[in-house]
Amino acid sequence: MANLLCIGAGYVGGPTMAVIAKNCPQHRVMVVDINEARIKAWQSDHLPIYEPGLEEVVRIARDRNLFFSTEINRHIAEADIIFVSVNTPTKTYGQGAGRAADLQYWEKTARQILEHSSTHKIVVEKSTLPVRTAEAMERILQSNGNPALFDVLSNPEFLAEGTAIRDMEEPDRVLIGGRQTPSGQAAVQALVDIYANWVPRDRILTTNLWSSELSKLVANAFLAQRVSSINSISALCEKTEADILEVARAIGMDSRIGAKFLKASVGFGGSCFHKDILNLVYLCEYYGLNEVAEYWEQVIRMNDWQQARFVHNMVSSMFNTVAGKRIALYGAAFKANTGDTRQSPALEICRKLLEERAEVVLSDPHALDNARHSLGALAEKVTFEPDPYQAARGAHAIAVLTEWQQFTALDYESIYRSMVKPSFVFDGRNILDHKQLFAMGFNVFPLGMPPLTHFEWGGDHPG
Ligand SMILES: NC(=O)c1ccc[n+]([C@@H]2O[C@H](COP(=O)([O-])OP(=O)(O)OC[C@H]3O[C@@H](n4cnc5c(N)ncnc54)[C@H](O)[C@@H]3O)[C@@H](O)[C@H]2O)c1
Repeated sequence: MANLLCIGAGYVGGPTMAVIAKNCPQHRVMVVDINEARIKAWQSDHLPIYEPGLEEVVRIARDRNLFFSTEINRHIAEADIIFVSVNTPTKTYGQGAGRAADLQYWEKTARQILEHSSTHKIVVEKSTLPVRTAEAMERILQSNGNPALFDVLSNPEFLAEGTAIRDMEEPDRVLIGGRQTPSGQAAVQALVDIYANWVPRDRILTTNLWSSELSKLVANAFLAQRVSSINSISALCEKTEADILEVARAIGMDSRIGAKFLKASVGFGGSCFHKDILNLVYLCEYYGLNEVAEYWEQVIRMNDWQQARFVHNMVSSMFNTVAGKRIALYGAAFKANTGDTRQSPALEICRKLLEERAEVVLSDPHALDNARHSLGALAEKVTFEPDPYQAARGAHAIAVLTEWQQFTALDYESIYRSMVKPSFVFDGRNILDHKQLFAMGFNVFPLGMPPLTHFEWGGDHPG
C-alpha cells in the first residue's frame, strides 16, 4: 500500500483522485485543501463541483480509501507520492502581468512539502505549469541540502470538465515526464504502476520532464486554435451565405483534419485555454520568439472578437438598441455539463449586454451560483432564473450561450407566446432547430449561417 496525497481539491484534484482511489483500492488516497468549505463539501452529499458520474465514483471510494482533509502538514509527512493540483492562474500584477502564470500557490506548496517531509517522496506536478517549472520545484525541494529526498515528475491532467470522469477512466493517454536518472526513472515507474491499474500500458507515455510540461500547454493551444479557426470561418460564412455546418462537415471528413472540435460557437472559455495560451505566449516572448508568440496570441484575439461580434449582431438586429429590453441568456457555464463559469463566454456576453443597458436574465441548470460569484458587483444588475420559461417571459430575445441538452427540449411555442414581439433567438451554439423556430414566428440568428427573419434583413444597419 502507498499513501497518495493530493494538494488542491478543485476541479482537477477532486475528480482525479476519486478515480485513482476507485481503481486502486490497495492505496490510501488523501485530498487536502486550505479551503475548509470545499473540503466539507467533498465530505458531504453536496459535492463542491458538478460533474457527470462524479457522485458515483466518490460514493464507491470515499471513506474506503479516499479521504478529504484540511490537515495538510500531517498528510504531507505521511505521504509517499504527492500530487500537486493547486491553481496556477494568470498573474495580475508585476512582471508578466496578464500573461505569465502566477506561481505563488505553487511555490508555497513546494515550501510546505519541504518543511514537513523527512522520508523520500515523489512530487507530481498535476497543475498546468510553464515549461521548466519542475526545475524550480527541485531547487526549492533541495534547498535543505538533502537532494535524495524528492523526485519531481510532471503528470499533466488532460481531463475536460463535463466529461472528466470518462476522460479519467478511459484516457486517450496519460503523460508522465521525469528525469533520466535512475531515481527519476524509478519514480516514473512508480507512477506508471498506479495508472496501469486501469489504463492500458500503451496509453501511458513517458517522456522527459520538459516535453511533458510543454505538451500540456501545446495541447490546450491546439484545441483552442481549432475553436478560433472555425469561429473565424463562421464570420465569413455569414457574409457569403456559406453554411458553417456544411463547411465543418466537409472539412471534418478529411481524416487529416478530423471532425472533432469544429463547432462554431460564442467561443471557448474555462479556466485553462485562455491562461495556458497566455502562458505559452509569455514563454515564447521570454525566449525572444516574437513571431511564435504573436501567432498564438491571435487565437485569443479571435475568441474575444467572436464574442464582441455576437453582441454586435444582437444589438444591430434588434433595431440598434437593446437598452431597457429584457434578454434571456440560456446558459452561464462555459460549456455544457459543468457548473464552472470561469472565463465563460456567456458571462462576457452578459457583461457586454449590461453595458448596452439591456435587462439581462441568466438561466442555467447548474451554474447560477458560480455565475453570481463570477459577475461580482455586476450580479446586482442581473436576474438569475433557473427556469428557462420564466427567464423568457416578457423578453425580446433569447440568446443560447451554453450547449445544455435541456435547451433543445423546451416548448418554444409556449416560450414564443410569452415573449415581446418581434421575438428573436440568437443561437450562439447552433443547437436549436432554426427552421422550426422561424416557422413559429421567431426571428432566428444562428452562427455562421444566414439569419431567418420575418422582415427585410440587410445585414448590419448603419446606426
Ligand atoms: N479545470 C480543468 O479542467 C483543468 C484541466 C487540466 C488541468 N488543470 C490545471 O490544474 C490546476 C488546478 O486547476 P483546478 O481547475 O482544479 O483549480 P481550482 O481552483 O478548482 O482548485 C485549486 C485548489 O487548490 C487549492 N489551493 C491553493 N493553494 C493551496 C495550498 N497552498 N494548499 C492547499 N490547497 C491549495 C485551492 O483552495 C483550490 O481549492 C491548474 O493548474 C489548472 O490549469 C485544470
